[in-house]
Amino acid sequence: MRADDVSLHVLQRPFPEDFVAFYPYVRPEVLGPERSGWRGWLCRVIEEGVPGVTDRMIAARDTTTGEWVGVVWTSVSLACPELAHFGWFYVAERCQGLGVGGRVIATCLDTLGADGVRMIMLPTQIDNERAVGMYYRRGWELSIIDPRGGVWMVREPAGFYEQTFTPDPLRPIRAGEPQPSDYVPLDYLLSRPTAPIRLLPLGLVGNRRFMSFVHDWEGARHMVARQGGCPVALAVAVEEGGGSKLDVFGLDRRAMAVAATELADSVGRPWAEVAATDGLRRMALEDAGLHFEDSRSETVAGAEIALCRYVR
Ligand SMILES: CC(C)(COP(=O)(O)OP(=O)(O)OC[C@H]1O[C@@H](n2cnc3c(N)ncnc32)[C@H](O)[C@@H]1OP(=O)(O)O)[C@@H](O)C(=O)NCCC(=O)NCCS
Repeated sequence: MRADDVSLHVLQRPFPEDFVAFYPYVRPEVLGPERSGWRGWLCRVIEEGVPGVTDRMIAARDTTTGEWVGVVWTSVSLACPELAHFGWFYVAERCQGLGVGGRVIATCLDTLGADGVRMIMLPTQIDNERAVGMYYRRGWELSIIDPRGGVWMVREPAGFYEQTFTPDPLRPIRAGEPQPSDYVPLDYLLSRPTAPIRLLPLGLVGNRRFMSFVHDWEGARHMVARQGGCPVALAVAVEEGGGSKLDVFGLDRRAMAVAATELADSVGRPWAEVAATDGLRRMALEDAGLHFEDSRSETVAGAEIALCRYVR
């Protein structure tokens, strides 16, 4: 078989029955034990659909036998149609290494590009050399690696991340509870090394969480600041230390302050701990009505850092 012996298809819901029967990532032997917890969500993706996104399967079919042999799932945020998530890529074992995967990605890039998507992020594992190399040669770069080897890769024009998540100073920013259409942009917002340092205790780091599908929204309170529908900051609070431990991330002080204020107003006894050097986050918390109480030292990832405690 050669790569030319497959036809490429852009599938929308409802997916053809034989394609649903083929879909590999609901099969335990493909998913493997470490990803078995995602099976329920993947069944939803293939059978019912998930809210907040326009999603498609880019699929390859063997033209001789008629069998489906490859697929990748793409989802575009309804809130930010320039951002897409690319995931769960698979080529049947008998067809691997022949160029089929390369053709699936080319069709995916053409399809998303024609729709105006400019930033495509994907999760993979650093030890999946074949996949990482394949993405890198097609313009993706590593953005963040979690200590267990999960990585995010992003493909975007230079400066587009900053531009997308830096709000216009003249336009309003409003905060509200997270909505499904926030998830892809939130994954994107948190996909940089600068993002997760203090959100780390809440598990909001690397592709271990995926706002898009496996994040535990019940485990904490969240508030999203948005401008023009697109998320620009995320605040999180967990019950801890006799109050609500608060944290916030965004690129912009005002956006962070809007999310932190709304959240601090809705929880009991908000407090926060921020690295002394994290000037932007400290100012945003002050804007949200918290004030400095005291500081202490802690060893984080082998380094001694000074932490400032803020209370309201
Ligand atoms: C990753 C996968 C989808 C790629 O599909 P494929 O049809 O095998 O890919 P191709 O034949 O088009 O090869 C793609 C590239 O990988 C290279 N490649 C192929 N086999 C390789 C190997 N064993 N090691 C390193 N590179 C390899 C090819 O030379 C090609 O290089 P190019 O970028 O210059 O085109 C497929 O191998 C697969 O399903 N793997 C198991 C699941 C998986 O890892 N999914 C990705 C999760 S992020």
